[in-house]
Amino acid sequence: MADRPALEMLLPEEAAKRLGSGPVDAGPYHDPAWFEDEREAVFRRSWIHVGHACEVPEPGCFIRRELEYARASLLIVRGKDGAIRAFHNVCTHRGTQLTQEAQGKRSTFSCRYHMWTFGADGALLSAPDFERFGLEKSACGLKQVHLEACAGLLFVNFAKQPDQSLREFLGDIADELELLPLSRTVEFDEYTFEIDANWKIYVDNFQENYHLRFIHPNTGAAAAGPENPLAYPTHYGFSGPHRGQTLWRNPSPPQLPPTLRMAMERGLKAAGRDGFPPRKTDFKLFPAMFVLGLASHMFTHTVYPISVNRTRGVIRFYWPNRATDASTRFAREFSVASVRDVHAEDRGVIEAGQGGLGAGVLDVIHFQDHEMLCRHLNEQVRLRVEALRAERNA
Ligand code: FES
Repeated sequence: MADRPALEMLLPEEAAKRLGSGPVDAGPYHDPAWFEDEREAVFRRSWIHVGHACEVPEPGCFIRRELEYARASLLIVRGKDGAIRAFHNVCTHRGTQLTQEAQGKRSTFSCRYHMWTFGADGALLSAPDFERFGLEKSACGLKQVHLEACAGLLFVNFAKQPDQSLREFLGDIADELELLPLSRTVEFDEYTFEIDANWKIYVDNFQENYHLRFIHPNTGAAAAGPENPLAYPTHYGFSGPHRGQTLWRNPSPPQLPPTLRMAMERGLKAAGRDGFPPRKTDFKLFPAMFVLGLASHMFTHTVYPISVNRTRGVIRFYWPNRATDASTRFAREFSVASVRDVHAEDRGVIEAGQGGLGAGVLDVIHFQDHEMLCRHLNEQVRLRVEALRAERNA
């Protein structure tokens, strides 16, 4: 592990000095042409989280992922050699999708159309009357996509040759992630949201506390106190395109509603029982992934654009052992449902944000000092889209 923090932590005013304070162009939040360029410049060229190694525990185990940003269906398979690879779910004969199954275990993948059959390493193993094609089997393997892992989390990159390895992309954050119990995960709970909003409006909602008190009256009130009525974080952190924050600790938090208190107690119990260290983590990985580690929860929240104004969020809670008794199962369900309820409170304002920005009335929007993480994401995206456009014009 590096002996310096993974993120450079700044006071809000220091962050504002670095990132500026002017208005920000509203177009990228609703412009279809900008979104098309983001697909390439931001998503296809970045490492995007798509799953966890525990989903493919043995050779032949596979998962299918539909990634609209890349217009791709991927098969992620563990080979006989133990390596996990990602392939386009596309038969190399005439392009038929190989499987519609979301997950499973197979030693081979046969295309139902003309029975071309591929191994778990993507190689073409057999094809009826293959000699009539005048081809070499070695030239007909499944098309591979770059896949790398950190702390058990699987990431793909659609660039022909990524500029950086996953570890280079994550920087010191990779070391921090490996200290988390993620790599020991054997199962997880998941829920998803599909929201009518641009992905940046969605992501921005989860990287500022300015709204907490108004949209989350129960939890927001618990996070705030008279010294900090809007529950602002104390520091904002940056590392290349990635972000993070240090939450303010309320010295005298108000009594929580009984249901929330019970959820937290049960979450702590389930976590303690599972051997989770009470290590606190709050990373916002570029472009759209949150990694949150609290004493009671270890979860990721990954945001996938579907179109310029539709987005999917996938939230996963990780557990390093199986829930074999009803009490642990219930504790986890209760804990997950409590966080889901908070996330559900955000949905209305995120969609209302798209409704307003999509109307095209505003030329600019505004970020204050405590919305620096939103400004940082906006800037990182803009730099990449502009670089892509310059590349095209060169
Ligand atoms: Fe797959 Fe023909 S398209 S075998």
